Amino acid sequence: MSALLAYYPEIKSVHVHAALCSGALFALRGGAALAGARWPRYWLARYLSYGIDSVLLTAATMLFSMLPAGMFANGWLAAKLVLLVGYVGLGILAMRPTRPPRQRTGFYLAALTAYGCIYGIARSHHPLGWLAGWMG
Ligand code: HEM
Repeated sequence: MSALLAYYPEIKSVHVHAALCSGALFALRGGAALAGARWPRYWLARYLSYGIDSVLLTAATMLFSMLPAGMFANGWLAAKLVLLVGYVGLGILAMRPTRPPRQRTGFYLAALTAYGCIYGIARSHHPLGWLAGWMG
C-alpha cells in the first residue's frame, strides 16, 4: 500500500481527467443524440464511454482505498456516490431512443446537473458542493 501511496497524485490526476472526459463525452453524445445524430449509439462511442468510466471508477476506488476514513467524515463521498447513481441512471434514460424527445431532454439536463453537483462536491470535499462556500 505505501508503495502505491507514492503514486497518489498521478492516480488522482487520472481520476480527474477521466471524470472530465466522461462528462464531456456524455454532454456531446447526449446533445448529438437529442439533435437526431446516429453516431452516439454506434459501438465506438458506446465503448469509448464504458472505457472512460471504467478508468474513472478504478482510479476512484484506488483513491478511496488509500485515504484515511476520517477524510470522508462529513459525508461528501457518500453524497458523491448517491449522485453518481443518479448521473448514470439519468444518462441511460436520456440515451433511450424509445423515450419521447421532451423526456429525454429533461433526463439529459438532469444528468448534467447531477454531474455538476458531483464535481462541486469533489472540489469542496463537502456534501453541499458548490454551495458549501456560501453556507459557511
Ligand atoms: C462522475 C463521477 C466523478 C467525478 C466528476 C469526480 C470528480 C473528482 C474530482 C474533480 C476530484 C478532485 C478533487 C480535488 O481537486 O481535490 C475527485 C477526487 C476524488 N474522488 Fe472523484 N469523481 C467522480 C466519481 C468518484 C467516485 C465514484 C468515487 C468513489 C469511489 C470518487 C472518489 C474520489 C476520491 C477519494 C477523491 C480524492 C479526494 C482528494 O484527494 O482530495 N470519485 N473526484
